[in-house]
Amino acid sequence: MTEHGTTLEQAELGKGGPLVGVQGLGCMGMSEFYGDTDEAAARETLDAALAAGVTLFDTADVYGRGRNEEFLAPFVAAHRDEITLATKFAIERTDDPQYRGVRNDRGYIREAVEASLRRLGVDVIDLYYMHRRDPAVPFAESVGAMAELVSEGKVRHLGLSEVTGAELREAHAVHPIAALQSEWSLFSRDVERSAVGAAAELGVAFVPYSPLGRGFLTGSFADASAELSQNDFRRHQPRFNGDNAKANAELLVPVREIAAQHGASPAQIALAWVQQRAQVHGLTVVPIPGTRKPGRLLENTGATRITLTQAELDLLEPIAAQVAGNRYPDMSFTSAAREA
Ligand SMILES: NC(=O)c1ccc[n+]([C@@H]2O[C@H](COP(=O)([O-])OP(=O)(O)OC[C@H]3O[C@@H](n4cnc5c(N)ncnc54)[C@H](OP(=O)(O)O)[C@@H]3O)[C@@H](O)[C@H]2O)c1
Repeated sequence: MTEHGTTLEQAELGKGGPLVGVQGLGCMGMSEFYGDTDEAAARETLDAALAAGVTLFDTADVYGRGRNEEFLAPFVAAHRDEITLATKFAIERTDDPQYRGVRNDRGYIREAVEASLRRLGVDVIDLYYMHRRDPAVPFAESVGAMAELVSEGKVRHLGLSEVTGAELREAHAVHPIAALQSEWSLFSRDVERSAVGAAAELGVAFVPYSPLGRGFLTGSFADASAELSQNDFRRHQPRFNGDNAKANAELLVPVREIAAQHGASPAQIALAWVQQRAQVHGLTVVPIPGTRKPGRLLENTGATRITLTQAELDLLEPIAAQVAGNRYPDMSFTSAAREA
């Protein structure tokens, strides 16, 4: 039992890392990317998460260009010792809404951490991720600079996002990495090529982002361009639009059938799948589904009580290979691009 009287089990985030509830909360959508947010409901969701035993809260400096970290600050202040706070650096933005740069140099990292600490209102970040890798900057410099932050007490543990298995090994040799955060879901399984195996071998925890396929796996939308608001990022993701979306919706039929058998929702089946898939690899996994609604938060944490049968896993196995369309408009933004 957690101190809140719930039964969400805990997992170690990397060897010797913090113990966190086996499901975390992705906070990105509370400030940007998925249309307008009801701030009061989002704040209730944070409270509901903690009450349910969720302790890993995920943000990044780039979400809302700092606004997501600022949004979280009062919650963090109220619960500093009860939560594990994760944020990220590396994605640079400008006034051009389409521009995304990647910065891994030491000077940038040192400035980025100070800005995140200030916005979050904390002295130390529990888990600090490199959000994207710039292959032009060696890990000796980038992870070396992150390791300096650990020595200086500004950061407790290090993480990486969207790196290949080979990159994870190289970085881990510079300083132990507690967690790898990359996209992993019924629709996105490229990480199983090398990153998952490397993480399992090194004792690095895996934090699957977008485990609900950015909501598509739940059936909450079927075609982003037709249904979602102008400022919704999913309108730019090839797999959620037009003919691709139409074909991909068909792939959800077994997910819905299995959900019905369990008296569960498709979201819960998607989350149970990623938990069980990680077990096959002997990997510690802490998915961070994102929601801004307290009811959905409880639904999502409820997935930790579902066990899929082998026959059900077999039905879900072929889905990812059949997905039409990429997961990003520009795949150079993913580790998969460096594995081809
Ligand atoms: N490292 C990276 O590069 C990276 C990239 C993307 C995301 N992330 C992190 O990962 C977190 C999660 O990923 P994500 O938010 O992109 O995608 P996700 O968790 O796969 O899906 C989130 C979407 O699903 C909806 N949703 C959540 N629970 C639901 C339920 N039970 N039923 C129906 N719809 C539901 C949410 O809507 P509502 O909010 O309206 O409930 C939201 O639109 C982010 O918040 C962020 O912290 C990291």
